Formats: sequence, C-alpha cells, structure tokens
Amino acid sequence: MFTTALAQPEKTEQGDLPLDLFAAIETLKQELNAVILAHYYQEPDIQDIADFIGDSLQLAKAAAHTNADVIVFAGVHFMAETAKILNPDKMVLLPDLNAGCSLADSCPTEAFAAFKAAYPNHLVVSYINCSADIKAMSDIICTSSNAVKIVQQIPIDQPIIFAPDRNLGRYVMEKTGRDLVLWEGSCVVHETFSEKKIVQLKIAHPQAEVIAHPECETSVLRHANFIGSTAALLKYCEQSPSQEFIVATEPGIIHQMQKLASYKRFRPAPPLNNCACNECPFMRLNTLEKLYCVMKNRSPEITLPENIRMAALRPIQRMLEMSV
Ligand code: 13P
Ligand code: SF4
Repeated sequence: MFTTALAQPEKTEQGDLPLDLFAAIETLKQELNAVILAHYYQEPDIQDIADFIGDSLQLAKAAAHTNADVIVFAGVHFMAETAKILNPDKMVLLPDLNAGCSLADSCPTEAFAAFKAAYPNHLVVSYINCSADIKAMSDIICTSSNAVKIVQQIPIDQPIIFAPDRNLGRYVMEKTGRDLVLWEGSCVVHETFSEKKIVQLKIAHPQAEVIAHPECETSVLRHANFIGSTAALLKYCEQSPSQEFIVATEPGIIHQMQKLASYKRFRPAPPLNNCACNECPFMRLNTLEKLYCVMKNRSPEITLPENIRMAALRPIQRMLEMSV
C-alpha cells in the first residue's frame, strides 16, 4: 500500500526519459499500486496504457470504487479534482496541472455566487465540468450522460439553475420541457464546429450519420442523428448499422471508435477555421512523457481545502445516487 512513508523521489525531467515508456509506466504502476484513469479525449498512447477509459460519469464512478493507492488521472483538472473529492486519503496525480477546461473557467466563483443569490429558492444543478468551489455551491452535480435523467427526478415545481454549460442546459430544457435558469458558459471545442462545413460534409457523404455531444451549439445539434455523451456516442457507433459517421466532439474519441468498429469510417466534424481547434487544448497537454514523469515524481498532485472538499462531495454523492 502506498503511504507517505515512501521517500520523496528525485525529480525526473522530460529530457531524462527511459526508452520504453510503456514498460516504465507499467513498472511504476506496480510500485505505486496506481490506477490510470483516462478520458476518451486523451491521445491514443495514453488511452492504450490506461487501466480504465471512460466518459466523465464512468470515470467518477471508477474513481469512487478503486482500491488503488494512487489515482493517475489522464484528463483535465476538474476530473482529477472530482477523484480527489471522492478519495481524500488517496494521492491523485494529474500529468499537467495546466490541463484546465474553458467551460470550468467560464464560471468564476464570485460571479456565480452573485448569480445564485439573485435566484433564491432555486436548486443548483451543475455540470461536472466546473471547479470544486462551484460544486460546493451546488445541490446536485450531473454529467452529459445523466443530466436529463437527473433534472427529470427533480419535482416539477422546483425552480432550477443549470450551470455552467448553456448548450447542455438548452439541450436538457428541450428534452425535459423544463424551464432552467442558465449560466452562459461554454466549451471552446464544442463551439468551434461549423454548421456549414458539417452540412457540406453530409452532402458529400449522404450515408454518414452525424453524431454530436450535447455541448455543441443548437445549430450543430439540429443536424445530428444522435446526441450523447462520449460513452453514448461510442456505443451508438458500435450498434448502428451505419458504416460512416461525422463525429461532432473532440476527435480523440475516434481512437476508441476505430478500435470498436475498425470496418466503419469516422470523420471528425470540421471546425470553423482551418485549424486543429476541434482538439481540446487542455486535454492534449497530457502526453505519455508527462504521464511517466508525474508517476516518477509523484507530482503534480491534486490537493483541496477540506471544507471545500466536504461541501463539493455532497452534490457529487447525490449525483451518484440519482444515476444508478
Ligand atoms: P463527457 O461527459 O462525455 O465525458 O464529456 C466531458 C467533456 O469534457 C466534454 O467536453
Ligand atoms: Fe473542457 Fe471543452 Fe476540453 Fe471538455 S472539451 S475538457 S468541456 S474545454
């Protein structure tokens, strides 16, 4: 079992790396009794070495149930923070502390506190893509795979604030028929897709189905044959008889799609500009090299003030109870 009795390691820099990173990471995993959890948006090498790959809900559940002493989170900060909230006694490592999230950043603590105060008697449902401070101010957390289900369980006469993603919020409103007070946050990646280019791609490939994450804007979602979380999109591609898909979410997930259905064709939905801005700039900060270094150095580590952790834990637990 990993304890603080382990000596503080000498810092390994990226210039000082073993030749076989896969083998070295496997060795460190045994030494630390670590589990590597990775989101579908991670680069293929990281997905391939991970013990568990999933969407935000699956990863939160995996973090809640692991017996490992160390959780190495190959994802972004709010995901690693959620793992720490659920596991105060475990060491939670993030390969790059700058792996944030534009959506989480679009909801600053003080501004949200003022917003919440303007809507007394409202229940706060927050998307997991937010900071621990925002979670601490929330009543229930949700992810893209359970947001509709969670809102449907709230009594109809209970007014609700939904934060921070306005696109997911609008999608939930449409699906539930509920009127939600929305915080106007968004994700840089999912707002980058071009409706015009998607339509052009669909004309060029009429057999292709458009599949989209609910963080996309309504202008993109209206062309989608299927809308769902990353895990739901993956499942849909595997089960659909279609042979071609236009994928409107971060293209890292195409690695798993190709693994599950190698005979099908997956085309990333094009961004507005001729850039790679459909790739999440935060998720992509993590590399195999940094994964090795974070395990070797046991740093950077996620830490949280205990009062915030306790306050943020309650709405996460509520989500886990409401999404069984
Ligand atoms: P999922 O809930 O599908 O994992 O989405 C997480 C995310 O960050 C989407 O941008
Ligand atoms: Fe955040 Fe968007 Fe990146 Fe997801 S894709 S982690 S919402 S910036």
